[in-house]
Amino acid sequence: MKCQLSLPLLLPPLLLCLEPPSPDNATARAAPPPRHPLQPPYPYPYRFLLNEPHKCRGGPPFLVLLVASQPGDTAGRATIRQTWGNESSVPGVSILRLFLLGLHPVFGRELRGTLEEESRLHRDLLQQDFLDTYNNLTLKTLMGMEWVTRYCPEAAYVMKADSDVFLNLDYLVRRFLLPPKKNFITGYVYRNTGPIRHPAYKWYVPREVYPNNTYPPYCGGPGYVFSGDLATKIYMVAQKLPLINMEDSFVGICLHALGIGVTHSPMGVFNMYWLQYKKCRFSRLVMVHHYQPQDVLAIWPDFQQTKCPR
Ligand SMILES: *[C@@H]1O[C@H](CO)[C@@H](O)[C@H](O)[C@H]1NC(C)=O
Ligand SMILES: *[C@@H]1O[C@H](CO)[C@@H](O)[C@H](O)[C@H]1NC(C)=O
Ligand SMILES: *[C@@H]1O[C@H](CO)[C@@H](O)[C@H](O)[C@H]1NC(C)=O
Ligand SMILES: *[C@@H]1O[C@H](CO)[C@@H](O)[C@H](O)[C@H]1NC(C)=O
Repeated sequence: MKCQLSLPLLLPPLLLCLEPPSPDNATARAAPPPRHPLQPPYPYPYRFLLNEPHKCRGGPPFLVLLVASQPGDTAGRATIRQTWGNESSVPGVSILRLFLLGLHPVFGRELRGTLEEESRLHRDLLQQDFLDTYNNLTLKTLMGMEWVTRYCPEAAYVMKADSDVFLNLDYLVRRFLLPPKKNFITGYVYRNTGPIRHPAYKWYVPREVYPNNTYPPYCGGPGYVFSGDLATKIYMVAQKLPLINMEDSFVGICLHALGIGVTHSPMGVFNMYWLQYKKCRFSRLVMVHHYQPQDVLAIWPDFQQTKCPR
C-alpha cells in the first residue's frame, strides 16, 4: 500500500493511504507499469561491445577520465587525446582515459569495423549495446560507473566529462583532489532545480519518468569529479532506482538515496557557460563548457606554454 504524509503546516499530520488496485485477476497483477519511451531501460544486462578490462592492471590510477563521446566522432576523440585528454598531461599523476560510447542509432553496423580498429590502436573505447541517444546518456554514465566498479575500483578519482568542454586537469588535481578524499563529488552544483515538464525542450522529463517537482543537488553533466569509492556506490544504488533521462540529475538522485552530499566548488572553476579564452584565466579554472574539440585545439599550444602566477 502506498502511503503519503501530507504536510499542511496548520493541520495535524494526516496519513493518506491509497488502496492498491484490487488484483482480481493474475494478468492484471503481473503487468508491470509501462515504461515511458524517454526512460532508459534499466537494469538490463547491456553487453560490452568494446571493453578494456585490463587497462587498470598496472595498479590503480589517480584519475579515471570518462569522456562521453558519440560513435561517429572519431575526429573529436583524436583531438581530445592530444589536448586535455592526454594521459600524460599532469606530470607525476597517473590518468587513465576512456571514451564512453553506445550504438549509433542508424549506422551501428557500418561503424563497427572502424571503431574496432580505433579501439585496437588506442585502447580507450568502452561501448555497450544501448542506442547512443541524448535521452540514453544516463546509460552511458552508468556504463562508466560499471567499468570502474568491475575493473578499477581502487582508482582514487573518476571524472566524467562531455566532449564539448575545455578541461584543465592539472589545476583540478593540484587544487582540489590532493590529498585523496572519500565520499566526495564536486563540479558546478545545481540546487533547488526541478525537471522541465515541457516536451519542446531537449531536457524534457515527463512525470511518468520522475514525479517529484525538485531534484536533489547535483553536479552539471559537462564535467564533474568524484572519489573512486562513489563509482561503486552510485552503480549499486542505480540498480534499484528508476532511471531518468538526465544523467547528471540522476547521479544527484543516487547521491540523495545514498545520503551523500555534493561539495561546492568556488565560483568560476566549473563553468557551464562559454568563456572567452584568456591564458591566465584558463590556468585557474577546471572546466569551460561549449568548447568543441577544434576550439580546444586552437588554444592548446598557447595554453601549454602559459606561465601564469599560481
Ligand atoms: C485480466 O486483466 C487483463 C489486463 O487488465 C485483461 O485484459 C483481462 O481481460 C482480464 N481477465 C479477466 C478474466 O478478467
Ligand atoms: C601528451 O603529452 C606529452 C607530455 O606533454 C607529450 O609528450 C605527448 O606527445 C602528448 N601526446 C599526444 C597524443 O599529444
Ligand atoms: C535507449 O536504448 C535502448 C536500448 O538500446 C533502446 O531500446 C531505447 O529505445 C533507447 N532510448 C532512447 C530514448 O533512445
Ligand atoms: C521525492 O519526493 C518525496 C516526497 O516528497 C521524497 O520523500 C523523496 O525523497 C523525493 N525524492 C527525491 C529523489 O528527491
